[in-house]
Amino acid sequence: RRDEAPSGLLPAPRLSGGLPVVGHSVEFVRATIELLFRANRELGEVAAFSVFNREMVAMFGPEAHEAVFRAPDAVLSPTEAYKIMTPVFGKDVVYDATPEKMAEQLKMLLPALKDRRMRTYGEAVVHETAASTREWGTSGVVDFVEFCRVLTNFTSSRCLLGKEFREGMSEEFARVYHDLEGGVTPLAYIDPHLPVPAFRKRDKARVRMVEMITGIVRDRRAHQRTGEDFLQTLMESNYADGRPLSEHEITGLLLAGIFAGHHTSSVTTAWTLLELLQNPTQLQRCVEEVDRVFGGGRPVSHAALRELTTIENAVKEALRLHPPLFMLVRVVKQDFTYKQFFIPKGTWIVVSPTVSHRIPTVFRDPDAFDPDRYLPGREEDKKDFAYIAFGGGRHKCLGNAFAILQIKAILALLLGQFEFGLCGDAIAPSFQGLVIGPKEPCRVRYRRRAQPSVTMEMGT
Ligand code: HEM
Repeated sequence: RRDEAPSGLLPAPRLSGGLPVVGHSVEFVRATIELLFRANRELGEVAAFSVFNREMVAMFGPEAHEAVFRAPDAVLSPTEAYKIMTPVFGKDVVYDATPEKMAEQLKMLLPALKDRRMRTYGEAVVHETAASTREWGTSGVVDFVEFCRVLTNFTSSRCLLGKEFREGMSEEFARVYHDLEGGVTPLAYIDPHLPVPAFRKRDKARVRMVEMITGIVRDRRAHQRTGEDFLQTLMESNYADGRPLSEHEITGLLLAGIFAGHHTSSVTTAWTLLELLQNPTQLQRCVEEVDRVFGGGRPVSHAALRELTTIENAVKEALRLHPPLFMLVRVVKQDFTYKQFFIPKGTWIVVSPTVSHRIPTVFRDPDAFDPDRYLPGREEDKKDFAYIAFGGGRHKCLGNAFAILQIKAILALLLGQFEFGLCGDAIAPSFQGLVIGPKEPCRVRYRRRAQPSVTMEMGT
């Protein structure tokens, strides 16, 4: 259908190097990011290629992003591409539901992400960061990527699944969660129900997860207890017709929140510290900010965390250089036109934050870690749809404020208590499931500060 462009329109220009029959499949599987960079270098805004007989069109830059992110779901659908999550989130939940039902379900998460709740989440982060570093000595070495993964696993369990869950959290949860994650592999794009061990374990793990969450829901209801967490929000949510969410749906939505937020936040925390350690002037400014905001014994609070604008810009810049979600996909449901290009129904459209964030005409000196580029009045600050680490438009990330709050709080607590240095491990990107994080191990040295500037306590 590529060649059926109506008169006056053109097919998307084709990337060089496609082989007969297999197209660009080998390069795509072996080095997806490199293929996308090459596509942008060679063809600019729009580039077509084919993978396993599927036509794909990559679209780069702010104007193209805007066209994709603003298109209605009936034209460009996110659901088909994310169907591999169905065995994890469950039937009829999020991407497996109709677009209307999915929108209703995602809207139910919103009260859990409101400002009022952020205080509770702040508390959870302080508590968990304190617990995770309690055993550290005066000085030592820690694999920082692993540290962030474990810490954010605890914070997301506490904030999403609730205090009871976190406190009763056992080896079993780690195993169940691991098995769920293990079921999200590229193989699932071919058929998520193939009889392979990873998928069998995933299905067993989901059954167990529903049981665990149902136990807490029933216990809260029986004892009329409530929590300040996502679970409570969902227990109190109803569809427009008044129907409450089932336990299967509650579990699915909580898993969607955890999958969307855990790895993404964990690798971003790691990337930010690693970037700062490679940029001592920026690191110094962040430490000074922490000392200024908390130095007088002020406890950590939501209001105080808001004042950490230098750290916030460092997190934002780490996300620009290393967006955890490197490829966002939409399936064309109705023929789509962008500028002079005709993109027929059935094509997969790919938007890559990783590639688009490095376009030199959009971000000056794009490979440099420069948190000041977000200061008001700077050029980058004014370009809509240029910065897309959290996506954009109708499916923009719902959890971005929560994610930034959590990462800022962890970094402030760590920088206020410890000095850090690199150990010489290579700092390079690597795939961790569907997310790109720093290659492991990536060890850092720490030393307790003689005069810590932050107390590991939460204030009001
Ligand atoms: C959507 C990134 C944290 C919940 C997205 C999208 C991106 C993104 C790029 C858009 C996907 C697309 O357009 O296809 C991130 C990053 C995070 C983060 C980089 C951390 C640094 C979180 C957290 C939560 C969350 C903590 C919830 C607790 C969601 C949800 C959506 C979403 C529910 C789907 C929105 C929709 O389809 O309407 N995220 N996210 N995210 N995110 Fe996040």
